[in-house]
Amino acid sequence: MDNKKNRAVVRVPGTSANCGPGFDCLGLATTIYNYLDLTLLRSSKVIVESSGEGTENIPRGRKNLAWQAVRRLLQEVGRADEFKGAIIRTDNHVPIARGLGSSSTAIVGGLTAANEILGSPLDKHELLKLATELEGHPDNVAPAIFGGFTVSVMDKGAVQTFSFLPRVKLKLVVAVPEFELSTRLARKVLPKNVAMRDAIFNISRASMLIAALVEGREDLLPLAFDDALHQPYRKKLVPGMSEVFTAAKEAGALGAAISGAGSCLIAFTTIKSKLEDKIAAAMVEEFKLHDVKSKALILDVDKRGAQIMRRISK
Ligand code: HSE
Repeated sequence: MDNKKNRAVVRVPGTSANCGPGFDCLGLATTIYNYLDLTLLRSSKVIVESSGEGTENIPRGRKNLAWQAVRRLLQEVGRADEFKGAIIRTDNHVPIARGLGSSSTAIVGGLTAANEILGSPLDKHELLKLATELEGHPDNVAPAIFGGFTVSVMDKGAVQTFSFLPRVKLKLVVAVPEFELSTRLARKVLPKNVAMRDAIFNISRASMLIAALVEGREDLLPLAFDDALHQPYRKKLVPGMSEVFTAAKEAGALGAAISGAGSCLIAFTTIKSKLEDKIAAAMVEEFKLHDVKSKALILDVDKRGAQIMRRISK
């Protein structure tokens, strides 16, 4: 019989990768969450039920991404013969295919819940290794696991992550366009090689961004969110991108960037500035001038990463 012991509920934050200059290496966790309720089964049934964002497009059965993560963990710890199926219930709030890490929430949710049920055989760094393998890059899965800001380095397939809570208290303003953008398409438009001056542009800003956040130097942040490695090429996929960045900055934002591979745009301000509503309105209004309908989310930085919950909640 399957019983309560084979069940765990986890809450996973949506994430924003790149943060401007940190292509494929920087990420941050936000206070919008997906919930995953996992029951491991000894039989080989896989049942997936979901509510909320993207419900109609979430694969049921064995193609489900959270199930693939559960299975990968079971294999890793040598329990795949014992548990061959699962019931997975999700309640999703993170918009799908918009650059807020919805696929990472499924991967991290599946891994974390299965790990909890099995008595936590893997630590967070081991979960990160599996999550990176499943996602292909670490910049969304790392903050989904650790919370806060993360810097990740890949070396011959291995991932190392530094996570920290910024000393500048940030408020995040995300303009969420109605249209989806696939990461695959957004990566296809990128060049294979980049100019040395663009590499220097990004290295200097990414370094400045982390130093400013760690030291609480808000005065250095206006230099730190710009990018020359991916956004110029992705601009054509997000109508009005540069103008929305300008509108956000004119409304007082410290900086703005594409969230992950898009289509969301994210602007950064501080909690104490209280400018978030003004920035949100300016971004949505500017998108409208480019015939893009959007809604704004005003979020904080999530401090905890994936958390085990007592029950699924909205
Ligand atoms: N760093 C990745 C990209 C994030 O920008 O393509 C995608 O989730």
